[in-house]
Amino acid sequence: MKQAVITGVAGFLPDYVLTNQELETMVDTNDQWIRERTGIVERRLLKEKGKGTSDLAVPAVLELLKKTGTAPEDVDLVVCCTVTADFRFPDTGTLICHKAGLTNAYGYDLSAACSGFVYGLHAAAQYIKAGTHKKVIVVGADKMSSIMDYTNRNTCILFGDGAGVVMLEPSDDETLGLRETVLYGDGSGGAELYQLGGGSVHGTTQETLDKNMHVIEQNGRVVFKRAVKGMSSAIKKVLEKSNLAGEDIKWVVPHQANIRIIESVAGQLDFPMEKVMVTIEKYGNTTAATIPLCLRDYESQLKKGDQLILTAFGGGYTWGAIRLVWGYNS
Ligand code: UT7
Repeated sequence: MKQAVITGVAGFLPDYVLTNQELETMVDTNDQWIRERTGIVERRLLKEKGKGTSDLAVPAVLELLKKTGTAPEDVDLVVCCTVTADFRFPDTGTLICHKAGLTNAYGYDLSAACSGFVYGLHAAAQYIKAGTHKKVIVVGADKMSSIMDYTNRNTCILFGDGAGVVMLEPSDDETLGLRETVLYGDGSGGAELYQLGGGSVHGTTQETLDKNMHVIEQNGRVVFKRAVKGMSSAIKKVLEKSNLAGEDIKWVVPHQANIRIIESVAGQLDFPMEKVMVTIEKYGNTTAATIPLCLRDYESQLKKGDQLILTAFGGGYTWGAIRLVWGYNS
């Protein structure tokens, strides 16, 4: 059977830098609190009017095509992982295909919040392994600023905008590519992390606007504990299934929500932080984009054959982990 291997990564971050200092002028917070409690120093925002998540994803996709030497017409599918689609419909995956000139591809959106990219990567790998698709782009992209309440210090300090993308292709090399995957969901977590307005239950009305229902809300402390537990147990399960020990893993690639969550997960599993990819200080939590942006930022340090574990936890709840063997030297 063919293996599904990542053959390239790329990303895009908008120019505008929202610093902790600027946030101090917006809500009752301070740089020291944000750094110590979250690890975040700054995040990027897409400020231009009329621009959405596809405008974050398209430059990343174009860079990916260039880096991998792929002709736009050769791409088969775009799986766009996002909770901040450009519109309710048309879907953002289809818009990305159109805007990036992927004339023979189709696309669709996958909504699993901060776990979107691991869900999407697993889904995309099945098309490759089945032999029905040869080039699949997995996009993790979110314009979190579009659902943020910049008067709520519980959320607005955490999130940023960005896009990360990977190319998945088939390989005959049995030692490379995606390996064991565990994915989980628990809908009872919907009460702790959500955006209620604008869906089919609470379609946009004056009342939903007055009640400020179009922004993200969360019970931070509860989500924090579940995130540590969820990612740690998912990594353990993947190690168990793969018959590997922590020391066999070269890199852990965790979702970037809070440096203390990342450190707790690493601590529970005895992973030294040198093995853990961290970008949170620069970008904050970009939801579906955090993991592919980590891969992009650490790409030059990755070697063919390196063992990676990707792990995420997010709204839903959704969570999981994937072991993969890196496929190329850059
Ligand atoms: O990607 C998945 C989605 N989200 C997450 O994974 C987020 C998970 N949760 C977290 O990262 C953390 O819970 C937060 C960063 C949201 C909050 O950190 P915390 O350490 O859990 O703080 P807390 O809510 O327990 O609040 C501690 C104190 C409180 O003051 P008192 O009651 O001790 O006087 C808060 O009012 O910090 C106060 N506080 C703030 N102070 C300054 C809360 N937010 C802020 C703030 N600036 N932005």
